[in-house]
Amino acid sequence: MSIHLAAQAGEIAPHALMPGDPLRAQWIAETFLDEPRQYNTVRNMFGYTGSYQGIPVSVQGSGMGQPSMSIYATELMQDYEVKTIIRVGTCGAISSSVGLRDVIIANTASTDSAMNRHRFHGIDFAPGADFALLRHAVEVSEQRGLSAKVGGLFSSDLFYNDRPELAMQLAKYGVLAIEMEASALYTLALKHGAQALTVATVSDHILTGEATSAQERQETFGSMIELALETVKRNAESHSAG
Ligand code: HPA
Repeated sequence: MSIHLAAQAGEIAPHALMPGDPLRAQWIAETFLDEPRQYNTVRNMFGYTGSYQGIPVSVQGSGMGQPSMSIYATELMQDYEVKTIIRVGTCGAISSSVGLRDVIIANTASTDSAMNRHRFHGIDFAPGADFALLRHAVEVSEQRGLSAKVGGLFSSDLFYNDRPELAMQLAKYGVLAIEMEASALYTLALKHGAQALTVATVSDHILTGEATSAQERQETFGSMIELALETVKRNAESHSAG
């Protein structure tokens, strides 16, 4: 048990997917994993462990925003020895180079959060994805014809932002989309010597105001989950091979 997770030692797999929404965690576990078993209901932040093609995988809701993600990701890595985390989320596009329903594989995550300023006493730390996971994900995406785009995310503390022009400036510097969790996940994985990656489907386009329907979100989300699970599998196989 940790403070926010009720699993016993050994009930959480070394590899985990983290959607923001706990009901998405349930849907992923029931749709894509063999023999899923729920290990957490504390605060309704559901967590499950099952297997994907013989590889043990957990799915843990992160909640919305970096404080919530930080609590769950820290406990997974610190208390349950989770070594690989892939956030599977949605994002709002700010770049004209990405469209609705595209999948983004995030190599970096800028942020307006003060978390790392506190952590590093004013230094601007640069949180990045794990390169091996990133490479596996890009290869899987190419083989499946998903044409996922690799680029930077902006992990904002503000969903309702008073300064939309800031997003436009970030887009000029190559940032593709906004979400709310990747920067904290990347920082914490680096702290704990774990591997992390974020894959996110574009659910809305902030430049054009377009948004996906619930049906479209479910469908694109599904192919992204397959991408994440295949990435976990290849990564686990490459570790056991070498
Ligand atoms: N902002 C922040 N997070 C998001 C958005 C957004 O516009 N869309 C999906 N997740």
